[in-house]
Amino acid sequence: MAPSVSVSISIALLFCGMYLNSIVELVEASELSSLELEAEALLESGWWSAHTNNTSTRCEWPGITCNASGSVTTINLANRLYVDKFNLNLSSFPNLVYLDLHMTRLKGSIPVEIGTLSKLTHLDLSTNYLTGELPLSLTNLTKLVRFDISFNQIVGPIPSSLCLLTNLTYLVMRGNLISGFIPSEIGMLKNLAHLYLNLNMLTGPIPSTLGNLTNLNSLFLYSNQINGFIPSEIGNLKNLKFLSLNNNNLSGQIPSAIGHLTNLQGLDLSQNQINGFIPPKIGNMKNLSMLYLRKNNLNGQIPSTIGHLTNLEYLSLGENQINGSIPIEIGDLMSLRYLFLDYNNLIGHIPTQIGNLHSLETLNLSHNFISGEVPDELGVIGDQIYLDLSYNNFTGNIPDTYTSIHNVNLSYNSLKGPIPRYFDQNHTFYTLIGNKDLCGDIMGFPPCLLASNKSIVTKVKIFVPITISLGFLVLGGFLLSQRMVKKTQFDSREAKNGNLFSIWNYDGHIAYEDIIEATEDFDIKHCIGIGGYGSVYKAELPCGKVVALKKLHRMEAENPTFDMSFRNEVKVLTEIRHQNIIKLHGFCLHNRSMFLVYKYMERGSLFCVLSNGVEAMELDWSKRVNIIKGTAHAISYMHHECIPTIVHRDITSNNILLNSKLEAFVSDFGTAKLLDPDSSNQTLVAGTYGYVAPELAYTMKVTEKCDVYSFGVVALEILMGRHPMELLTSLSSSSSQNMMLHAILDQRLPPPNHLISQDIFLVATIAFACLQTNPKSRPTMKSVSQEFLSRKKPIAKPLHALSLWQLKNQKMYMVGSRDETQL
Ligand SMILES: *[C@@H]1O[C@H](CO)[C@@H](O)[C@H](O)[C@H]1NC(C)=O
Ligand SMILES: *[C@@H]1O[C@H](CO)[C@@H](O)[C@H](O)[C@H]1NC(C)=O
Ligand SMILES: *[C@@H]1O[C@H](CO)[C@@H](O)[C@H](O)[C@H]1NC(C)=O
Ligand SMILES: *[C@@H]1O[C@H](CO)[C@@H](O)[C@H](O)[C@H]1NC(C)=O
Ligand SMILES: *[C@@H]1O[C@H](CO)[C@@H](O)[C@H](O)[C@H]1NC(C)=O
Ligand SMILES: *[C@@H]1O[C@H](CO)[C@@H](O)[C@H](O)[C@H]1NC(C)=O
Ligand SMILES: *[C@@H]1O[C@H](CO)[C@@H](O)[C@H](O)[C@H]1NC(C)=O
Ligand SMILES: *[C@@H]1O[C@H](CO)[C@@H](O)[C@H](O)[C@H]1NC(C)=O
Ligand SMILES: *[C@@H]1O[C@H](CO)[C@@H](O)[C@H](O)[C@H]1NC(C)=O
Ligand SMILES: *[C@@H]1O[C@H](CO)[C@@H](O)[C@H](O)[C@H]1NC(C)=O
Ligand SMILES: *[C@@H]1O[C@H](CO)[C@@H](O)[C@H](O)[C@H]1NC(C)=O
Ligand SMILES: *[C@@H]1O[C@H](CO)[C@@H](O)[C@H](O)[C@H]1NC(C)=O
Repeated sequence: MAPSVSVSISIALLFCGMYLNSIVELVEASELSSLELEAEALLESGWWSAHTNNTSTRCEWPGITCNASGSVTTINLANRLYVDKFNLNLSSFPNLVYLDLHMTRLKGSIPVEIGTLSKLTHLDLSTNYLTGELPLSLTNLTKLVRFDISFNQIVGPIPSSLCLLTNLTYLVMRGNLISGFIPSEIGMLKNLAHLYLNLNMLTGPIPSTLGNLTNLNSLFLYSNQINGFIPSEIGNLKNLKFLSLNNNNLSGQIPSAIGHLTNLQGLDLSQNQINGFIPPKIGNMKNLSMLYLRKNNLNGQIPSTIGHLTNLEYLSLGENQINGSIPIEIGDLMSLRYLFLDYNNLIGHIPTQIGNLHSLETLNLSHNFISGEVPDELGVIGDQIYLDLSYNNFTGNIPDTYTSIHNVNLSYNSLKGPIPRYFDQNHTFYTLIGNKDLCGDIMGFPPCLLASNKSIVTKVKIFVPITISLGFLVLGGFLLSQRMVKKTQFDSREAKNGNLFSIWNYDGHIAYEDIIEATEDFDIKHCIGIGGYGSVYKAELPCGKVVALKKLHRMEAENPTFDMSFRNEVKVLTEIRHQNIIKLHGFCLHNRSMFLVYKYMERGSLFCVLSNGVEAMELDWSKRVNIIKGTAHAISYMHHECIPTIVHRDITSNNILLNSKLEAFVSDFGTAKLLDPDSSNQTLVAGTYGYVAPELAYTMKVTEKCDVYSFGVVALEILMGRHPMELLTSLSSSSSQNMMLHAILDQRLPPPNHLISQDIFLVATIAFACLQTNPKSRPTMKSVSQEFLSRKKPIAKPLHALSLWQLKNQKMYMVGSRDETQL
């Protein structure tokens, strides 16, 4: 018996062993095939075919990251490769966590197979040409944290099942053609911090369940056709910093609960049909810096509590039916830069406290019934101010204090007496039309001796009131809904302009037609330069404001590289803000007309200023040092304060612009790149010869250190007054190492004095550190920026006794860097 038992046991073991073996084989076969499927899908997409077809190296392909088993976890081609069609078989990537295809010229609809990516946490398909509806299969992506579909042509509704993705913190669908209601289930997205549904075609009310999203930081619903009331539950959003509901069809009153939003920094309810009075609780929003209630049906008085908003910089209550007089508390708004109360029913006098507003740049009180004399105090405020007091009931004389105000419109009042002499000499623009009893010896006026009662003068321009609104962007004319017309002439002009495009931002409303008019439809005579992408025009708008326009001509617009660089610039510049980075006022990305609108930089590029003998002299040592510092701070901001990090990739003296005060502004973000720390850094090559870091010649890795190198070149260029090309090529030779610092300085300027020499020493030391061949040895921009901010170190030696060799080998401690750097 015993042997048979042992035999049967061993047979059982044998079977068992075979069974186990076959399971192992099966598992291996399936793993192998799943990796093979990934490889096949990557190859068949054709997305990398220009780069490689060798799938055995797929984990090193641009934008691809794999896990330890070689399974693809990240695909990030953002702004890096152009893929055109969505022909990647998504079913083949069970481990994909991160998919970023923004700015890859993707066309067609989002494939339903997206729902198979069950591990996905990040999905960015923004700024492409995607069409069709959002697939319901998105509901499968339960781990999704970040979803960005902005700036495509997606139609149809927001699927309510999307609200099951409760891990979402960032839901961004702006700039599409999405219609229907905002689903009330949106209140389930408890983790949501950023909700951007702006620039769509949404209708219906704002669901009160939004009040459940207590982690919300920004809520942008502007430029839709949303109607109904603003729910009072919005007051529950204690963490909200930006609330923008403008350009909708909202009615009812502003809920008093809005005063609970004490962290709010920007509130824009403009261009709706909101009525009732401004709730006094608004004074609780102490952090508010932008308040736009323009173009509604608000009535009642301006609450005196408005004076509590001491951080307010922009206040626009224009085009309402607000009555009563301007509260004296307005004088408490010490940070105020823009004040628009135009087109209301205000009466009484301007409070003298308005003279306290030392930061004021624009004061527009036109089209009211304000009486009394125009206050002397406005002349103390400053010379850059734009002042519009037209269409009121002001009486008395023009004050003598208005000597240096840039733009003045006092037309259509009851002012009398002599026009002060300085008016014609000092003011860029003024108009005094419609004041019956003014006289003066300026052309067009009756002389005062013979003072007739018909005096009219219009110098240069008549002002058209400008609208101000919280600055985000509006593209396409499809958004404009017809509204009640209050001021027929003004509005019909606006409506007409809005059909093609409109821009709203911090500085005002620049209408498409105004731009076309100002540039005579981009006539060559208004062209002030040709940039890397497109031509640059100067336009003087009817409000007196001067802007720069970068325009792609039709042929250029058809070049996908140019088109992408424009879109890239818009994407980057609408998301960042720094005092040394060029400000984008708005843009038009219509296939008929593509242009970007910037703040005008009076002095043009740093390159041009340095190339011109007279202007280069004006750029004295301290201005040059300030330009270098400003540029450093701007790049440091892009590298260290933006998420994701922005690498400019084309820092040159041509891309640093100067304003009238010769302060620096970094511009031209057409090739800027958002660096993603989760992915490899390969990319398409960009940059300008003479500024590109040496490592880019043999690797495609873009890091912040590429900008650091270019910054070093620019810093030296500023000190030398010309491009340091020869110096850089000869720097390894001993003859140039023995050169003294003072010998390379721009000889057109007098030698620097002792004080500024310390700065120049610091700049030169930093510049040489930035020019290190090894990117790892270059300092970060953060340490450069901090070095400039920290107290200057006195130098022992004068500049003529410092050789370049000494500078290059200067042992300098860079603040913020981990260790002492041997330079
Ligand atoms: C990859 O294959 C495609 C199609 O066969 C071909 O057009 C392309 O040139 C190949 N790419 C490389 C880098 O060899
Ligand atoms: C693909 O790349 C691997 C690893 O670099 C290399 O060994 C192999 O020869 C390449 N195959 C082809 C067909 O080039
Ligand atoms: C990588 O993905 C495979 C699936 O192909 C999975 O089994 C494995 O656990 C993952 N490895 C790591 C280290 O995450
Ligand atoms: C996509 O891949 C899956 C398996 O991962 C396969 O079943 C399917 O047929 C593929 N689809 C196409 C269109 O190749
Ligand atoms: C969604 O997930 C379910 C269950 O995981 C799966 O059966 C289904 O195929 C997925 N749908 C899509 C469209 O991927
Ligand atoms: C949401 O995220 C948390 C923390 O990362 C995780 O534990 C949870 O499983 C996620 N929820 C879903 C539905 O995936
Ligand atoms: C969400 O909001 C609605 C309406 O404001 C409210 O009735 C409901 O109780 C809230 N739900 C949760 C879970 O807070
Ligand atoms: C806006 O709302 C008003 C009522 O408040 C309504 O009469 C009008 O049709 C709405 N307009 C649009 C475009 O929805
Ligand atoms: C206002 O802003 C400051 C600084 O930005 C911040 O510390 C503070 O918490 C904010 N909120 C309130 C209610 O002051
Ligand atoms: C303001 O002036 C207009 C026209 O000059 C006049 O009709 C109106 O009565 C005046 N209003 C006040 C409040 O003075
Ligand atoms: C304006 O004119 C007055 C008087 O003519 C003069 O004193 C003043 O300096 C001028 N201001 C400016 C900014 O030109
Ligand atoms: C990409 O660049 C970032 C920032 O410089 C760096 O931290 C990261 O290690 C780089 N990644 C790779 C794969 O090189």
